[in-house]
Amino acid sequence: GLMREWKGIDVLELELKHRLGIKKVIIVPGDSDEQQMVKRELGKACAMRMKKLFTGKDIIAVTGGSTMAAVAEWLSPVSDENELLFVPARGGFGEDVQNQANTICANMAKNTQTKNRVFYVPDQVSKEIYHSLIKVPDIHENLQLIRSANMVLHGIGDAIKMAERRRTTPDILAKLKEGRAVGEAFGYYFNEEGEIVHKVSTIGLQLEDLAHIPNVIAVAGGSTKAKAIKAYMKQAPSQTILITDEGAARLL
Ligand code: G3H
Repeated sequence: GLMREWKGIDVLELELKHRLGIKKVIIVPGDSDEQQMVKRELGKACAMRMKKLFTGKDIIAVTGGSTMAAVAEWLSPVSDENELLFVPARGGFGEDVQNQANTICANMAKNTQTKNRVFYVPDQVSKEIYHSLIKVPDIHENLQLIRSANMVLHGIGDAIKMAERRRTTPDILAKLKEGRAVGEAFGYYFNEEGEIVHKVSTIGLQLEDLAHIPNVIAVAGGSTKAKAIKAYMKQAPSQTILITDEGAARLL
């Protein structure tokens, strides 16, 4: 019956939290690989958790992807005392427009009736260009905001699927395959041991920055993402809250 199923999920949440060594695991029923509706439920669970965590003056760094886009759909206006600012976590924009962090941040701001920043910088710039870019006032300001964010929202993807979606060059794709990359999160590609195989060099949030951010919410579901989630969780900071679905959780 339904009660038993729910109890099953409760137990699974606690077990996974201990196994992954993170703060909390929230599991929604179903498998988002099989039903589009389940991805929407992931988005809803994340939006609800965010509302609980808002302090009244929040800077939220957000990555791209279809799961993050689903989160935006469920956000609703916050009370007037709340000052929220949504900032893309990283500057790169390899994804289709609807899955780009810039678009998602704009939707989150629109739906909460708060503010967002835009952040457009190319991936893979030379050292010289990098040092010039970080002095551009808008970019400099975004970097300061990202570093002072009190919340990060990010997706986790299957490494090869993400690389292909981002039209990654053949040499990098070969590097990922050779390095047996299985998971991807904010431009970092990980193997099953959780080691970094490759990193998209763009300006913005770096893996080491996560340690200083109090609320880190990872949202990823679907049985095909189980390996990717497992790999990334070996690197995830201990304050991470994972929002996933039964499809991924049962395999984890
Ligand atoms: O970094 C991971 C990807 O952004 C996940 O994308 O939510 O569309 O699977 P997705």
